[in-house]
Amino acid sequence: MSRKRVAVLISGRGSNMAALIEAAKDKKYPAEIALVVSNRAEAGGLLVAQASGIATEIIDQTTFGKDRTGFERALQGTLEKHRIEIVCLAGFMRLLSAEFVKQWDGRILNIHPALLPAFKGLDTHRRALETGAKIHGATVHFVVPEMDSGPVIAQSAVSVKSGDTEETLAMRVLEVEHRIYPLALKLLAEGRIHIEKGRCLIDGVAVPEADALVPTEST
Ligand code: GRF
Repeated sequence: MSRKRVAVLISGRGSNMAALIEAAKDKKYPAEIALVVSNRAEAGGLLVAQASGIATEIIDQTTFGKDRTGFERALQGTLEKHRIEIVCLAGFMRLLSAEFVKQWDGRILNIHPALLPAFKGLDTHRRALETGAKIHGATVHFVVPEMDSGPVIAQSAVSVKSGDTEETLAMRVLEVEHRIYPLALKLLAEGRIHIEKGRCLIDGVAVPEADALVPTEST
């Protein structure tokens, strides 16, 4: 079976993009990162992608101003030019219209730094700390018109420690992000995800024991 052609959309440093590139270096991985697109010319991830020999494109949102349709037309044209089959949003800081998202229905993923449906939106780590959440984590989900919604493919939890700052918590969450995004993309590329009533049913995936996440009293 041929590998699925994937575009990763970024706006910044692109560490999740790098994790996907790394996973796809394995010829047995069912997807190849064929393109990295940034909406910001200065995104650090562009250099990382280029260093791996991956095609990059900049669709600079500032040149489009308020013309969202024009921006998305350019984006769609670029994806078609590179014969992209799956789109992965990875720190892509721009909302996509319902029309655009519907064109990619079931073929567009996002990673969110929280255990959805908790903490949709920005500043997830700060809000998790303010709430006193004991566990936090990351979610890979299908993109639907409503932000940070859509069927969940993979999640991973980390414990919140008493001395955590936004930065230390973000770092711990990022580690699990880098594991679950390549896994979720693999499952999609292998055709193992079926969406039923807004939920993902996934063939052949073991659910890990959650016991480790239950707090125990210190002695
Ligand atoms: C990640 O925390 C991701 O979950 C969120 O934006 C951040 C992007 O980081 N959507 P990076 O650019 O992948 O390093």
